[in-house]
Amino acid sequence: MLSKSAAKKFFLIGTVLCSGCFVVLTIDTIQRVPHQTRSENITPEVIHGKDLWDHNNCMGCHTIMGEGAYYAPELTKVYTRRGEPFIRAMLKDPQAMFPGQRKMQKYNFTEEEIDALVAFLKWIGEVDLNGFPAKPDLAPVNPEPVSAAELAHPAIYDQVCVACHSLKGKGGAVGPALDGVGNRFEQNYFVSWLKDPVAVKADSKMPKLPLTDEQILELANFLSQLK
Ligand code: HEC
Ligand code: HEC
Repeated sequence: MLSKSAAKKFFLIGTVLCSGCFVVLTIDTIQRVPHQTRSENITPEVIHGKDLWDHNNCMGCHTIMGEGAYYAPELTKVYTRRGEPFIRAMLKDPQAMFPGQRKMQKYNFTEEEIDALVAFLKWIGEVDLNGFPAKPDLAPVNPEPVSAAELAHPAIYDQVCVACHSLKGKGGAVGPALDGVGNRFEQNYFVSWLKDPVAVKADSKMPKLPLTDEQILELANFLSQLK
């Protein structure tokens, strides 16, 4: 049993030690912030994107860094998960990406505002979050050997096209399955199709996606090999 004065000492020393630790750790955290957030990348455009994020209440449905509402997908790493063309298409017209099942409203953003939101999502995706969000630990339902053709998907295919198209039964069902599509069309057709589906087929239900010429060429090469 401690005497009264020993208890007092114990309390005082304990309090000073713990407060000391608290101050040191706080200073340490504050010093790490600029490096972990890559603060040198916070351009005026990123700040504008953050303002748009706040003013349009994206957090009313989405989370970033786990904060927000749980109605819509977590967006911290959306820049790498979905890629720029998907995000741009989504911000322009969600209905085009999710025909008939749109749950996100359409905003009337200008190109410049979309650039800013994309810059903001890119920056936030590069923040060092000590491993958050964790990669989902999903056990494969039907582990199959991955064939060489499957390994060769361009990254952009897995970010964007897979949302609507399937290959070997895997992927979305908004558009037709792309198995064997290389037997039906030529490389040049794929290039014009991907540039602007509506220009090729006036009533096309595939949206015009903001792809770069390089991405279009890579995809057209890939599609022509699907035989
Ligand atoms: C009313 C709720 C709501 C609001 C507000 C909202 N979203 Fe969404 N968002 C969704 C839903 C739901 C999806 C999933 C696709 C769907 O069903 O439309 C989505 C999908 C997305 C995606 C694609 C994510 C993925 O992983 O496929 C992006 C990017 C996105 N939203 C950005 C934004 C931004 C930026 C804002 C603010 C300007 C915003 N959203 C506001 C509901 C919302
Ligand atoms: C939002 C959904 C959606 C996305 C995303 C999408 N497509 Fe499509 N795609 C469609 C639909 C719907 C069609 C059928 C168009 C029609 O005939 O009206 C189609 C048709 C096609 C066709 C013609 C297939 C055929 O048999 O006629 C090709 C090739 C194609 N898409 C490639 C792609 C590639 C590559 C990507 C990724 C960059 C992509 N699509 C992204 C919905 C989508």
